[in-house]
Amino acid sequence: MAQPTHFIDFADGTPARAARKATLDAERYYDQQVMKQEWETIWTKSWLLAGLASDIAEPGDYFLFSIGHESIIISRDNAGQVQAMYNACQHRGNRVIATEQGSVPAFTCPYHGWTYDLDGTLQTVPDEERFEPRIDCDAYSLKHVKVEVWAGVVWVNMDLEAAPLADFLGIVQDHLTPYRIENMVLILDQTLEIDANWKTAVDNFNEQYHVDFIHPQHASMVNCRDSVNELWPYGHRRTIVEGFVTNPRYGEPEEAPPILDMMARQIGLNPDDFKGRVGDIRKAAQVQKRKLGEELGYSYDEFPDDLVSDVVQYDLFPNIIATIHPEYLWIMRPRPHPTDPNKCFFDKMTLQIHMDVGHDAESGLSLIGDVSQQVALQGARPEHDVFDREAVITGQKSMTITIDQDVHYLPDMQAGMMSAGFQQAVLNEDESRIQHFHDWWDVWMNDAPFERAQAKEAAE
Ligand code: FES
Ligand SMILES: [Fe+2]
Repeated sequence: MAQPTHFIDFADGTPARAARKATLDAERYYDQQVMKQEWETIWTKSWLLAGLASDIAEPGDYFLFSIGHESIIISRDNAGQVQAMYNACQHRGNRVIATEQGSVPAFTCPYHGWTYDLDGTLQTVPDEERFEPRIDCDAYSLKHVKVEVWAGVVWVNMDLEAAPLADFLGIVQDHLTPYRIENMVLILDQTLEIDANWKTAVDNFNEQYHVDFIHPQHASMVNCRDSVNELWPYGHRRTIVEGFVTNPRYGEPEEAPPILDMMARQIGLNPDDFKGRVGDIRKAAQVQKRKLGEELGYSYDEFPDDLVSDVVQYDLFPNIIATIHPEYLWIMRPRPHPTDPNKCFFDKMTLQIHMDVGHDAESGLSLIGDVSQQVALQGARPEHDVFDREAVITGQKSMTITIDQDVHYLPDMQAGMMSAGFQQAVLNEDESRIQHFHDWWDVWMNDAPFERAQAKEAAE
């Protein structure tokens, strides 16, 4: 039986089901013209996850968000407001900021010294009197994009007319609120440069059909056979995968396999108590995690039982893949390359709840699992680690074994799709999230759905 799939409309009436059923033609993954159109209709029209608010905690803090050929400065100004501006000097266009992240009193363009306030207002122009007519500082401020901060995350939209983020995310905001992402700690910040289109990467994370073949370890900890898929407006999706279980496709083992054994022990369950009834571990884990949480200072009160044990992945249009548990979060974000549709930058930000409330150093019992990274950082931000597939294949770098396994295949997918021997993909029902993503991708490419919704709202 195929995985259950549900279409869920937004409360404002925006329908989840796209009007068309996309053909996954190979060209959409490598064609230059397609890439150009994506820029016009998706990247410059959609809300995009730019980064974490914790990186701009204080006035003067900034980071750069690079997307395609654009670089956007995200800063906190002296009034404490978050600003988002194109990183392009209004004198002759030079990038005002070259370093990815930092803290400055003002933004000074290194080329001729034009200086902008933290909110982008032009402040000083060297040899100002030599400009005829005189420079009107207001008119030459850095150009802004829309910005919102929600759940400890900075979101931007290059469309100044865009409706609020809440309209775009809809019910997804309600889903994510209990996770208190804003209280989580960033422990790894990684970027992989990979020879694959950004959608090739998104597709990979939108089905579990490949799991038995390239992630054999999953059969010992999650039930990827019977996941439930939910599909929302604008192309957002999620999948819910039972955790603390073995995959029923292979029958229930007599004893917990090593990975499940370790997961159970970590939270203080004794796997030996479950000999002959391994299937009961999931329910026991739900109870035990709540109990351990109470002891450590972490509350699961806002989560129903299944979300305490299971894995949920939110796929936010266009390019966010967020695997979330109450205790930790992976934000994966394939960003398009500035010029080459056959390349992307695959970011992975790893966040955890603070070890003070998720881990007992004395007993070793832990809701988080591995805290070594958090211990090593001692409260500091991790460095942004940028590497290529070779570094992953040779074992110098890892994004966790599962992602490493995926990464291994992405360039081969990309290369195969460019072959004269391949025209279009064919999907099974368990690949419904891929279909939904591409159905909405088609709508974004042709019909400006978010703008259409706003126009409708304005007319009412
Ligand atoms: S280009 Fe920035 S000051 Fe000239
Ligand atoms: Fe995978």
